[in-house]
Amino acid sequence: MNINKEIIISYQEFDSTETLSTTEQLLIQKANEIRNNSYSPYSNFKVGAAILFDDGSITTGSNQENAAFPSGLCAERVALFYANSQFPTKKIIQIAIIGGYKNETTDTPITPCGSCRQVLIESESRQSSPIELLLVGEKKIWKISTAKALLPLSFSSNNLTSN
Ligand code: THU
Repeated sequence: MNINKEIIISYQEFDSTETLSTTEQLLIQKANEIRNNSYSPYSNFKVGAAILFDDGSITTGSNQENAAFPSGLCAERVALFYANSQFPTKKIIQIAIIGGYKNETTDTPITPCGSCRQVLIESESRQSSPIELLLVGEKKIWKISTAKALLPLSFSSNNLTSN
C-alpha cells in the first residue's frame, strides 16, 4: 500500500517585540548584546543566542569562527553546550536567536542550521520538555513552540536500539 503523508509546522509571527513578555524582551536584549562577543572575522556575520532556564536565569553564546572553517561553532551550539555542561539539571525553557552582518540585524529572522537543530532536539529529549524558539529579525519575530518542529523525522536515540 502507498500512503501519502504530510508534516505541517505552525509558528507565530510578530511585527515587533512590544507584544512579547518582559522576560522575552530581556532574553532578546541579552541575545543581541552577546553578538558583541561574536568572533567572526571570516564571515562578519554576528550571531547571538540567549537561553532562559526554568529558574529564570539566562545564559548566552555567540558564534566562534576559526581559520579552519569547519572548526567554528554557531552561537546556538556554543550557548547550548555551555548550558548543558555548566547547568545539567536546569531545564531550558526558551532560546532567543538574533544575527546579521556586522552590527546589522537581518529583517527576517535567521533560523538555526541543521546541526544546531539536531543539538536543540537532543537537549529537548534530554530534559523531556520542549524548548521554545524565539527567532528575531528587525521586521519580524517568529515563535516556534518546540525545536522538534524544525527537524521532522529526525534521527534520535530511539534509532540506536537494536530491532
Ligand atoms: N551562524 C550561527 O551562529 N547561527 C546560525 O543560526 C546561522 C549561522 C554563524 C556560523 C558562522 O560563524 C556565521 O554565522 C556565518 O554562517
